Amino acid sequence: FILLKLLIVRFQMIEIAIDGTAASGKGTLAKKLADKYGFVHLDTGLLYRKVANELLIQNKSDPKNVETFSCKIARNLELVNLNKEELRSEETASLASLIATSPKLRDILNFKQKEFLLKNKKKFSGCILDGRDIGTKILPNANFKFFIDASVEIRAKRRLLEKNISFLHENDEKCMLQALIKKMIDRDRLDSNRTTAPLSPANDAYVIDTSLISAEQLFEKVTKIIEGK
Ligand code: DC
Repeated sequence: FILLKLLIVRFQMIEIAIDGTAASGKGTLAKKLADKYGFVHLDTGLLYRKVANELLIQNKSDPKNVETFSCKIARNLELVNLNKEELRSEETASLASLIATSPKLRDILNFKQKEFLLKNKKKFSGCILDGRDIGTKILPNANFKFFIDASVEIRAKRRLLEKNISFLHENDEKCMLQALIKKMIDRDRLDSNRTTAPLSPANDAYVIDTSLISAEQLFEKVTKIIEGK
């Protein structure tokens, strides 16, 4: 069955769309799938983060002109060196979520994503994009769509672990965790309630809650779905 499916789509890219909340495990899943199948992968959140980071560097994040500046930066954005540590900060993430409410900016970044796909079409037999609007907007006809979520407490704990901070007092850790939970709730709310391409599962997406499963178990679950097992 899977061979037949692969033959049918032989001359098209196989498309896998992964959406979900922050720190739900979607990024790790996307990378692991890309490694397993040899597909090209784009973390689309990094495009929004890169624009936000540039705004912070250039000190141009005041609300009055933020849309004009972010669109200007986005037009000149090259999809290289996106995997930098500085893009990972919560400050950058919050500003990314804010500017992502702009339909104009989204149009520019959507175009960049389409360009990326076109450029890689000949080199790769498949692509994996992860973000917020992949299944609903960027790849509406994807072969597989997944929507990954988890409780906000679990997601904040994961983020904190990623940061690899050693705390002197238990209370400091608790405070940081609470602050992270608040930031994530705010960001999810902004991402889910914006008018243009809000975070929401596509009707034909597999919705998976990762609160009680490991990254490895999620990967197994998803590969079974893809391979029709
Ligand atoms: O996936 P991430 O946490 O790196 O994304 C950062 C922000 O970028 C997210 O809060 C909302 C925005 N984003 C978006 O609006 N659409 C996407 N496809 C990806 C990210």
